Amino acid sequence: MIKTPIFITNFKNCEQSTGKNALELAKIHERVALETGKTIGICVSACDIFRIAQEVSIPVFAQHVDPIDFGSFTGQILPQNIKNSGAIGTLLNHSERRLSNEVLKDSITYAQKASLARIVCAESPEEVSQFSEFDPDFLAFEPPELIGKTNVSVSSEKPTSIKESVALSQGIPLLVGAGINSPKDIKVAMSLGANGFLVATAIIKSPNPEESLKNFVSVME
Ligand code: G3P
Repeated sequence: MIKTPIFITNFKNCEQSTGKNALELAKIHERVALETGKTIGICVSACDIFRIAQEVSIPVFAQHVDPIDFGSFTGQILPQNIKNSGAIGTLLNHSERRLSNEVLKDSITYAQKASLARIVCAESPEEVSQFSEFDPDFLAFEPPELIGKTNVSVSSEKPTSIKESVALSQGIPLLVGAGINSPKDIKVAMSLGANGFLVATAIIKSPNPEESLKNFVSVME
């Protein structure tokens, strides 16, 4: 059972958050989690999961898995291998890795079979409603046009959509993300009912990721 509210940094495939740099960033996240007692997870490249999961105690998520079991599937990401490598869950259907509804449903099934928690991303409140039927552990509302922004965010631009998404999520915990760049964004989204956050740029590209992370989670009640 993953405790909420949860703050998850999506490491994507940035230079600052892959390979050796990913491990250092992961350790920063662990340090802040231990110091603050907040639930902090990281969502890392499949290439980095095994090493990172061996070295940190915080929840590690994959960014994607494919709907496959053991077998001859060259180049695909096997959910059971992600689990065996030490991840506890996976993102699915991120805006940068969109899936058809059929593939998404299958991916959820295979991830569940491998005992991975499933965070299903949605681009609108309508998709939140639709994907809530697919049996995810978390839904994540991320308006794609706000991803990577540093001066506007889902909280500043889409408060009504956050509220709607919470109402349409059928009790499934709802994360929000896209452009989150200040503690105020966290506070606003929480006041609207969000149960957690997916953040990338504001941590990965921060001149001081540790400080930024502390600032964000300090207002996460
Ligand atoms: O999954 C989180 C991500 O898409 C949000 O990115 O850079 O807007 O925080 P960013």
